This record gives sequence, structure tokens and C-alpha cells, in this order.
Amino acid sequence: MIPLAPYPNSLIQANALIKILVTGAKGQVGAAVCQRALKMGMSVVWFDAKHLDLSDLAQIHTLLAKHKPKFVINCASYSVVDLAEANPEDAYRVNQDGAANVASACADFDVPMLHLSTDYVFDGAQHLPLNEQVPANPVNIFGHSKSAAEELVRENCKQHIILRVGWIFSSSGNNFVLRTLRQIRRQEQIEAVDDQFGCPTYAADVARVFLAIVQQIDCGIDVWGTYHYSGAEVATWKGFAEAILAAVKQQPTTIANKVVAVSSEDWQAPAPRPAFTVLDCSKILGTFGIRQRPWRSGLVKVINSLTTDELMAANQGE
Ligand SMILES: NC(=O)c1ccc[n+]([C@@H]2O[C@H](COP(=O)([O-])OP(=O)(O)OC[C@H]3O[C@@H](n4cnc5c(N)ncnc54)[C@H](OP(=O)(O)O)[C@@H]3O)[C@@H](O)[C@H]2O)c1
Repeated sequence: MIPLAPYPNSLIQANALIKILVTGAKGQVGAAVCQRALKMGMSVVWFDAKHLDLSDLAQIHTLLAKHKPKFVINCASYSVVDLAEANPEDAYRVNQDGAANVASACADFDVPMLHLSTDYVFDGAQHLPLNEQVPANPVNIFGHSKSAAEELVRENCKQHIILRVGWIFSSSGNNFVLRTLRQIRRQEQIEAVDDQFGCPTYAADVARVFLAIVQQIDCGIDVWGTYHYSGAEVATWKGFAEAILAAVKQQPTTIANKVVAVSSEDWQAPAPRPAFTVLDCSKILGTFGIRQRPWRSGLVKVINSLTTDELMAANQGE
């Protein structure tokens, strides 16, 4: 894995034809995009929240003028779903206003914008895989702020790709895999919701998708719009937790050995969650030839990437 230098920073590689600017570069997807793009030989300029705040339109203009990227990939987000309920202003400031700022700046500089969105723009009432035609109807503040962002990106920047993804996980950041690992190590049993259905999605696979799209657009394909991508295989949070437990079962530090089902009602999360957000990913396959990858293989990579010490350290994290 290529280590990222302190932010903001850039690595301009010889013969690199494609230069991308990445926001939210310390996040799960942002970091994965930077690492993969560098491996692919692209020129990458990346910024974390401290060095590029999406609320600051003038700053975005300045950085686009300075770095002149060919593409902007917006991975920045206020993405803690439960916290958004208590802090709606923050969620809208980053997710809605921030995305609108990036979109209008991209339009001003005639730069295509690739923007990350979420399966939580849907209400989960339909128990069939959701394609891009299904109207958004979010049930929580996070989903509302991301849905509003989508509308403003479409409005402000014609050259856009909105990529809605499923439940993101990686070997760092705030995600269900790392939270579950912490629970596994300190409890005899773990609890997980079994009445919400979705598709876990490995952050590195989202990076692969974004950069495959960048390459195709760079070759002249003109297919702006909204696309769905998630890991292959439907799961509940309970099923996902069982897969995590199975993947670490061989570790001597494992304590928990059972996942117990909990209903959404009993879980009592601050933010309501849609019950069914399985994404139909046939449009991205038909347009770009991008196939879903099994999230289980990403999960094994994450578990294998953590040392025993890191797995043990997860015990002290919460
Ligand atoms: N996580 C999921 O399960 C999930 C599921 C579906 C869709 N998505 C979407 O996928 C995208 C990326 O998710 P992720 O899991 O990679 O998120 P993440 O790990 O939370 O990364 C988001 C990054 O955005 C940064 N950020 C926050 N406020 C900012 C601001 N005002 N200006 C610039 N940067 C700011 C954060 O920096 P700080 O950490 O310093 O605040 C963070 O590093 C988001 O659009 C999210 O909505 C996520």
C-alpha cells in the first residue's frame, strides 16, 4: 500500500496523463481513491477536511485554479448517520452546501465532478433491488442531506457522476467491521440488527469503480448521471457481523462466538434506517462494464491487513 504523505500534498508522476483532485482524502473512500490512483500512475492532489473545507467556495476555486485537475472526486462527507440527527446544520453544511460548492466550482472550471452518495437516499419500503429510476425518499437527516446534495450536483454541474454506494467498510475509520471487531473482543456475544437489508461495500472497490469511470470518461465516453454500486451479496447487519466473526474465528484473541439478532425497534438508534437498500447495479455494468465484487473478499483483505496487535487494540477503541 502506498503511504500518503501529510496533507495537502501531491505526487506528480512522470507520464501521468490524468490528474485528479480528491476531497475527504482521510476518509475511507478518499484514502482508497488516492492510493489506487497513485498505483495506476495518475497524478493526484488530495486534501483532508483541515486543508480543504467544502463550506469554503473561495478555497475550492483557489485550489482548482492552482492545481488544474482533469477530474474532481468528492469523497468528503458528514457521514455519521446517528450524529446527523442531533447536528442537522453540520450535516447539511457539509453534505448539501459543500457538495453544491464543489459542483459549481467544477462547472466554473469545466472539470467533471465525481460525487459519492448513498443507498440511504431511499426509504427502504420497496423490497426489490433499487435501480436509479426509483425516487429518493430519505428517512433520516443524513439521507436528506445527501439527497439534497445529489439534486444540487445535477443542477450545478452538467458533467457529473453521482455514485450511490452501499455500507462502506475498510481497515480504518468509522465502520461496522472495526466496531464489530471491538465488540467481538470484549463481549461473549454481539448483537446486530437483523431486519435491515443492504450490501456491504469495500472502500477499495469503490475506488476501483471511480477510477475505472475516470479512465473511460477520459477516453471520451460521455455518460453523465447517477449510478449504483455495492458489493455483491445481500446481507443484514447480523449476517455481516457473522461473516466478520467467521473471518476472525482463527485468531487466538477472539472472545465472542455468537451473534444475536436484534430488531431495529429494540436497537433504538437515534436515526431511523431504511429497511431495504439493496442496490440494483445493472446500469453501471451496462454502461461501464463494471461488475460487483463480493464484499466477503474485501472483508478478508481487511481482516488480513490488521495485525494481531491491531486486532487486540480494537478492544480499547470504544
Ligand atoms: N460510510 C458508509 O457506510 C457509507 C455508506 C454509503 C455511502 N457513503 C458515502 O460515501 C462517502 C464516503 O464515505 P466514507 O465512509 O469514506 O466517509 P468518511 O470516512 O467519514 O470520510 C469523509 C471525510 O470527509 C471529511 N470531511 C468532513 N467534513 C468536511 C468538510 N467540511 N470539508 C471537507 N472534508 C470534510 C472527513 O474529515 P474528518 O474526519 O476530519 O471530519 C472525512 O475524512 C460519503 O459521501 C458517504 O456519504 C458512506
